[in-house]
Amino acid sequence: MASPVDSPVSPAVAADRRHVWHPFTQMREYLALPPLVVASGRGGWLTDTEGNTYLDGNASIWTNVHGHNDPDLNAALQAQLAKVAHATLLGLAHEPGAELAALLCELAPIGLNRVFYTDNGSGAVEVALKQSFQYWQLAGRPEKRGVIGLEGAYHGDTFGTMAVGDSGGFHERFRPWCFESTHFPAPVCNEFAGRVHAADDAASLDALARLLESEAAQTACLILEPSVQGAAGMRQQPPGFTRAVAELCRAHDVHLILDEVFVGCGRLGPMFVCAEEGVTPDFLCLAKGLTGGYLPLAATLTRDEIHDAFLGSFSSGRAFFHGHTFTGNPLAAAVALANLRKLRPLIEEGFIAERIAVFGRELARAFAGHPHVRELRQRGLAAALDLQPDGGGSWSADQRAGLQVCQRARDHGLLLRPLGDSLLLVPPLCLSHDELRELVDRTLRAIDDVLPGLTPLS
Ligand SMILES: Cc1ncc(COP(=O)(O)O)c(C=O)c1O
Repeated sequence: MASPVDSPVSPAVAADRRHVWHPFTQMREYLALPPLVVASGRGGWLTDTEGNTYLDGNASIWTNVHGHNDPDLNAALQAQLAKVAHATLLGLAHEPGAELAALLCELAPIGLNRVFYTDNGSGAVEVALKQSFQYWQLAGRPEKRGVIGLEGAYHGDTFGTMAVGDSGGFHERFRPWCFESTHFPAPVCNEFAGRVHAADDAASLDALARLLESEAAQTACLILEPSVQGAAGMRQQPPGFTRAVAELCRAHDVHLILDEVFVGCGRLGPMFVCAEEGVTPDFLCLAKGLTGGYLPLAATLTRDEIHDAFLGSFSSGRAFFHGHTFTGNPLAAAVALANLRKLRPLIEEGFIAERIAVFGRELARAFAGHPHVRELRQRGLAAALDLQPDGGGSWSADQRAGLQVCQRARDHGLLLRPLGDSLLLVPPLCLSHDELRELVDRTLRAIDDVLPGLTPLS
């Protein structure tokens, strides 16, 4: 039988294999696997150049909201395209950028009135960190430089975001070039199907209180992915945890940065997790679902008081010297506006909550007690299945159990990404009840096809 590498390939496959270096990918492994070239999308489905269709089970890396090729988002994009594709925000304004900022401030907790645009989640976090650092300098407290994060945190792959993250395998190599940060222990939580099955944040909050007592005077900010740490494997926090962290930060005069790059824009149900928890952070970072999964755009929201500290004469040097060429691109801003305007009633009228309930029920039906699932976690439209050999134990890392399941899922018309030997299920918010059931059933079939045949480590 011809290997994928020997088979005749399309020009796109040939060019991809010869020239594209894929993100987060062991290229030797990638080149040995059959190619999949996405050609088009509609709703929650993607179609490849061979005409095969797949459910987009990770919402194109956790971004997609209303589906691919959504008529309303397409129309917004086309209307803006007919006006202007790009104009800089350096010293100029444009309508979609201004309108989107106003809408974000209306949707966010009261007090967040200023929006700084970037192009991706890492950029949004970099801006929050730099604004916090500069604020304390401008406030005459330059010794407040430190950053506290939560164990297992992931905030992106730029140097600042790597420095404040704690995702060992991803970033360890670059540690010598990163500034120091401190991490406090994560709480324990397990939730699925609308029920919290385990929750304990006492030790975590106690450790944070002690850390702040000794370090707050030298600490600029604490950064947290509220409610769910996606890249850590959908690690959950007990309800009320964000609020407790916020209260500790306020008591110790330390800025709170909430990184809602993953959990915001309806992913967990509410538009923003912080509003649900009754917390107004000093900085709120948004990306991923902001444009409904259409274009790269991110936003960092902050309070007037922080913005106003940067005001002064030009020669005072108080201005925030940061920006990117495509900061606040008008096409991206126009599609984000259409996305949020369409999403808001779906959240307010309970449609997203209903889908979340269906997703939870389907997951529990298929995977609670499944011999190959060590733990199931689900909150909102974000779930993780930690896989294990029947009877416990583990496989070797090079067996790539999670990847093998994802490869098999393609044969069942489903696209998923593994995280080691966990599967992360993050569907577009628009999936119907039947599609959510399909997502779960296809995942189950792939697991049952692959895992019984793998020999565990002895
Ligand atoms: C919580 C969180 N913050 C930041 C990022 C980085 O976003 P980006 O990949 O757009 O730079 C991610 C990406 O997964 C994320 O999950």
